[in-house]
Amino acid sequence: MANEIAAEYEFIGVTGARSIPTDLLSLLLNMHDYNHQNGTHRELFEIESVQMKQFIDEGFHSHAYLSQPRKQPRLRDILKNPAQLAMPKVLEAHLENFFPFMGLLHGEDKLLSLKECHFYVPEADRQSRVFVLMYMKAHSPIAHLIKGNLLKLIDVVVDQDAKILNKIYADVPQRIKLNNEVGMDWVRRNFESFPVAPEPNLSR
Ligand SMILES: [Fe+2]
Repeated sequence: MANEIAAEYEFIGVTGARSIPTDLLSLLLNMHDYNHQNGTHRELFEIESVQMKQFIDEGFHSHAYLSQPRKQPRLRDILKNPAQLAMPKVLEAHLENFFPFMGLLHGEDKLLSLKECHFYVPEADRQSRVFVLMYMKAHSPIAHLIKGNLLKLIDVVVDQDAKILNKIYADVPQRIKLNNEVGMDWVRRNFESFPVAPEPNLSR
């Protein structure tokens, strides 16, 4: 998969490389918790809510399609930062998941197509390494000017995840099930089944 991307897309760089004191299951649960975008990363993306449009379960491989409406900028914010007008009102995300070691974000924008490959590597019982390879296809010369910003942005995202990961998940009993927890259920089931591929859940 990464090879196909490398052939077609321009490599922007590696970012978000860290070793986090957490077990692999907790790390994966966080990364597939589709509610955490408007919790952990709320300030950064100003996401108001996360709507799961579709989840395609293919065993150790899956696709999640999310619609994420953003907070509407106030006139004051627009005057201060006219770039606000260029930000989409709804962030559409297509996440492709390769259990257990990779998550791939497909991003489409007027300026560029983005492929963001998140890797999850266990180092010890309670130590996991993460890093992100970023690739793009420019649709405008402007895309080349924001490569550094993209790397920095994703580094901040990973930093926010790393901070929250000290507190949560694997030991916490599951509460009321929300629609957006389908990704976390997928992780739990695959984790129990690994390395035997599980039966995909087709009822969704
Ligand atoms: Fe996150």
